[in-house]
Amino acid sequence: MSNILRRGRLEAAQNEEILRYTSSMEADRWIFDADIAVDLAHTVMLREQDIINKEDCSKILSGLLRIREEGMEKLDFSYEDIHISLESRLIDMVGEDVGGRMHSGRSRNDEVSTCIRLALREELTGLLEEIFALRNTLFSLAEKHINTLMPGFTHLQHAQPTTLAHHLCAHEAALGRDFDRVQDAFSRVNICPLGAAAFASTGFNLNRKRTQELLGFEGLLENSMDAVSSRDYLIECASVFTNMMINLSRMAEELVVWSSSEFNFIELDDMYASTSSIMPQKKNPDTAELMRGKTGVAVGALMSLVTICKGLPLSYNRDLQEATPNIWRSVETVRASVRVMEGMIRTMRVHPEVLAAQSVVGFTTATELADTIVRETGIPFRTAHQIVGMLAKEGEKPTMEKIDSAAKIVLGKSLSGLGLTENMIKEALDPVSNIKRRKLTGGPAPEEMRRYLSKRQTELELNKQEIATLKDIIDSAFENLLAIVNEYRKA
Ligand code: ARG
Repeated sequence: MSNILRRGRLEAAQNEEILRYTSSMEADRWIFDADIAVDLAHTVMLREQDIINKEDCSKILSGLLRIREEGMEKLDFSYEDIHISLESRLIDMVGEDVGGRMHSGRSRNDEVSTCIRLALREELTGLLEEIFALRNTLFSLAEKHINTLMPGFTHLQHAQPTTLAHHLCAHEAALGRDFDRVQDAFSRVNICPLGAAAFASTGFNLNRKRTQELLGFEGLLENSMDAVSSRDYLIECASVFTNMMINLSRMAEELVVWSSSEFNFIELDDMYASTSSIMPQKKNPDTAELMRGKTGVAVGALMSLVTICKGLPLSYNRDLQEATPNIWRSVETVRASVRVMEGMIRTMRVHPEVLAAQSVVGFTTATELADTIVRETGIPFRTAHQIVGMLAKEGEKPTMEKIDSAAKIVLGKSLSGLGLTENMIKEALDPVSNIKRRKLTGGPAPEEMRRYLSKRQTELELNKQEIATLKDIIDSAFENLLAIVNEYRKA
């Protein structure tokens, strides 16, 4: 059959190059299932509104189900997009007098945004499940390392002792916010533009609420012009994915650094490593490096999206077709990265003895020593900071004697005279008591860590239920749609 779209207004068929340049067929693989669902829902609604008759409705629905079964490969890829290719396949199957009625009261403009939203909704629920798994794995590992000392860093310099649990939970906290942002974005993705037609609504008596419900959307994008023009939900999601990739790349960077011989804090499982083609001894943390690198995909997708959308006049412009593949690239990358990170964390070997030994290297207990001096002698913190700083500069082991001689220079008197004892100094220099003292909300003290973990795990359980609810709404909408389709097919 000749091209059903171009046979009226246009003369020349497109040559290969122009077709390839303008077609979205390849990227439209992402919305094949969604497009069928949208066609099914629209057709059911057309019947219910008496816009098409029973027999035509039944034939269109049967045809659509067959196309669904045959899969995307059976479609004609010489069409400019999936919507028109699918309609053409339907017309091949059931004839134009029947199949040619499906697109009544609709445009590809409202259709495509509905499809993107449906497919993206699935991706977002998948992503939520994957973030859940990663957070869960971080918690399991943290539980095992509540007492595992390690050096905490600022400026990548040893700063103060902390625990591995505390460090892992810091990453989890960031991922928890990513989770919230995905949920938030979901609420703006899950609204239905269908029924807006090209942009100016339609004179057909459609029931927009009905198609919204059949597709399991939470609400309607009412203004028909906004409905077809807006891609802010893509920018929002791409931004959420970017933030998330940045968080993951920071974790990945630590895995790279921690598995170096200089650090030797962990060893990644061989699954995630590569070796050198020339240096036989090498075990390289390639998977983590690639995760750092793939962050560029998400950042790039976001930049493409904002650039494409900037300055577009209302309403639909074909530029928008170029926006869509960016969201698929980005979501594919972020979802894979979350899954891979989960595996890397779950399987890595931790070296607790190295972590503990390193926890005091570089006078990491200096802050606690200064704090102890303040609490025990009553001198100002700034003065104690100077005294301890002088010891650090000399690289001296901070004994009572050394502290007193520094104090005499700074203060003109000794701190032992103000009540500081050898025992207090010893306590202050002990990393275990350092940690124990940091029991304020969010600190690394084991008792506080246990409280924190149990609170966060309870919240994570709630998140699990929220995911299940979302999935349930989507799945039951689709089951319901198929049940209705089967009814109308028989009629
Ligand atoms: N494939 C297009 C897209 O992804 C939808 C088609 C709208 N085309 C048009 N000429 N109005 O945006």
